[in-house]
Amino acid sequence: MSDLSGLTALITGAAGGIGVALAEAFAKAGARLALVDMKDCADLAAKFGPGHRGYTLDLSDPAAIAPMIERIGAEMGIDLLINNAGLGMVFPAEEVRLDDWDRTMNINLRAPWLVSAAALPFLKASGRGRIVNLSSQAGVIALDQHAAYGASKAGLIGLTKVQALEWARHGVTVNAIAPTVVDTPMGALGWSGEKGEKARRDIPMGRFVRPPEVAAAAVFLCSADAGMITGDVMMIDGGFTMQ
Ligand SMILES: NC(=O)c1ccc[n+]([C@@H]2O[C@H](COP(=O)([O-])OP(=O)(O)OC[C@H]3O[C@@H](n4cnc5c(N)ncnc54)[C@H](O)[C@@H]3O)[C@@H](O)[C@H]2O)c1
Repeated sequence: MSDLSGLTALITGAAGGIGVALAEAFAKAGARLALVDMKDCADLAAKFGPGHRGYTLDLSDPAAIAPMIERIGAEMGIDLLINNAGLGMVFPAEEVRLDDWDRTMNINLRAPWLVSAAALPFLKASGRGRIVNLSSQAGVIALDQHAAYGASKAGLIGLTKVQALEWARHGVTVNAIAPTVVDTPMGALGWSGEKGEKARRDIPMGRFVRPPEVAAAAVFLCSADAGMITGDVMMIDGGFTMQ
């Protein structure tokens, strides 16, 4: 069902908690990996065997994005794009500093916009292009102290829907995944100790998401069978946001 053989998957934030799980799942489905992160991903790519590559890119530098995406497209093609890189900072809404606000928006929202735009010619050439944007439950509901993060992830859902509308004619689907807390370093940052225990109890399924569960959803959305799913926001939240 999810055979991605012969397709190149570009994954941003590949060195992070969800990124590594994405790389493992896409490699297992047969995709060729183009792993992108501000950290060096060459060793990670090599772990999956020949044909996979790592690229170092700081997504906060807008001028650096298009040249790197064009290089990757020329070297490997781009059929599947997973905009996964992101960062989260928690502050009361009235205390967010301007540079933290800008950094959050630049990496969580501006970068996916620029990466997707630069990748579009390659996705069009693919004939079955796919984009999956890593949003969050924070883009759908209010989470205490998540003003900048929630705004960036809600913005990413808005971007997803407009890209889906405009790029359907090119055979490109664009969807968002919105998990609750995922067991990664980022998840632990805001949700450890008693706060984390309470958050787990408040999720009907009683636990946080495991990174491979996010990766499996992304693989499905990139599969041939998901060709009619576009503009969707897939919640992976154990039922938290239905309450
Ligand atoms: N962990 C969670 O609880 C959770 C929940 C919902 C959504 N998400 C989203 O999932 C995505 C991945 O999260 P994660 O938990 O794996 O985070 P993580 O912090 O483990 O990994 C993020 C990766 O992005 C990379 N990155 C950050 N800034 C970058 C930049 N300027 N240029 C290039 N790469 C950069 C980091 O180097 C890191 O490898 C993020 O978009 C996040 O917002 C995470």
